[in-house]
Amino acid sequence: MTDDKKKPSGLEGVVAASSAICTVEGETGKLLYYGYDVRDLAGRASFEEIVHLLWYGELPTRRQLAALSEGLAMSRALPDEVIAIIRAFPEYSQPMEVLRTVVSSLSAFDRNACYYSHHANMCKAVRLTAQIPTVVAAFQRIRNGKDPVQPRNDLGHAANFIYMMDGQDPSEVASKAMDTALVLHAEHELNASTFAARVSAATLADMYSAITSAIGTLSGPLHGGANEQALEMLLEIGGKDKVEDYVHAAFAEKKKIPGFGHRVYRNEDPRATFMHQMAKELSQSTGNTKIFEMTEMIEQLMLKEKNIHANVDLYSANVYYLLGIPPDLFTPIFAVSRIAGWTAHVMEQYNNNRLIRPRAEYIGPWDRHFVPIEERVGDEAQVFEMM
Ligand SMILES: CC(C)(COP(=O)(O)OP(=O)(O)OC[C@H]1O[C@@H](n2cnc3c(N)ncnc32)[C@H](O)[C@@H]1OP(=O)(O)O)[C@@H](O)C(=O)NCCC(=O)NCCS
Repeated sequence: MTDDKKKPSGLEGVVAASSAICTVEGETGKLLYYGYDVRDLAGRASFEEIVHLLWYGELPTRRQLAALSEGLAMSRALPDEVIAIIRAFPEYSQPMEVLRTVVSSLSAFDRNACYYSHHANMCKAVRLTAQIPTVVAAFQRIRNGKDPVQPRNDLGHAANFIYMMDGQDPSEVASKAMDTALVLHAEHELNASTFAARVSAATLADMYSAITSAIGTLSGPLHGGANEQALEMLLEIGGKDKVEDYVHAAFAEKKKIPGFGHRVYRNEDPRATFMHQMAKELSQSTGNTKIFEMTEMIEQLMLKEKNIHANVDLYSANVYYLLGIPPDLFTPIFAVSRIAGWTAHVMEQYNNNRLIRPRAEYIGPWDRHFVPIEERVGDEAQVFEMM
């Protein structure tokens, strides 16, 4: 007899790949990108520098950074046909479903899509990283009845992203906050979406297929979708005087509070600590402190009563809210950043590939025998009905 308690449910604790890109130390709350502590990088290295680190394993020299930044800037524009696809979505579409579908379509417009050399894959990684922000910004404008704006080559990745959404020069504070948020979300070892990307890549499916799998996986509320849900919760609570009742009601109903808990971090999530400080500074500089103060109250209650720590999504929701970004763009912005890590993992998988094909413990029935339909007796309470 197997002991049920010993089975790793949800692959918890299972080492499913070797990777040099990143590691997460759950007990000490450390996150390393190629050996650099993310606390050392955030606020000091730009997103483009982190992209170089994740793809090449080294922080870039000035010349390397200029070449990669230029490659990204030159790849930002979308073909007209892709803009037409974005226009075809109803305005009520979820930005994550638009992103998933449009990224899938991008392979048809990439002449290198069917080439698999490392250089061809690097060029695909550049295009995907450059174009995902353009897709998100174009949909945001189109659903609000505006035309997409052309990307600007003179702006950095984060600043250009804000510019493409707003159509106006972004402030330095907003550009810096977005850049740091992108750095903090860029990579996180074998999280669910990265694992999905590696499983797809391991079949030797092309990079666009792997990234489409990753985007679908990121959209779930237990993963990237938690940042949007965290803000919705804060808006629903509405005021500091209602925080305690809300949290206690959630405990009583055994409801999970979005933005808390983590599979690997048992104590501090270092990204949450950094985003907490950013949210504090932004809320003070804008004078809009209500949501931030409510968030801190929930954090203290969760720690005191459940010993569950905040994760990155709690305070990224605060930062994006204070930057005036609509909640349903929070998860797409996660993808704008995580594409750097996904593509790094896909290339690492291709470079040392073996099909990922685990086994399932079979818990279904055995030894059944076919019964012709005329003789079958079934539970007709279970009859399909279309919604
Ligand atoms: C991230 C997450 C999916 C990790 O899941 P996991 O490793 O499978 O952990 P579990 O869901 O088994 O949680 C372990 C315990 O902590 C509790 N817990 C975990 N996260 C919680 C949360 N956000 N709110 C309330 N309780 C929580 C669970 O209820 C469970 O308690 P129990 O042992 O009494 O049943 C989970 O913490 C969660 O759903 N968080 C909310 C969504 C979120 O913020 N996701 C973004 C992650 S970066």
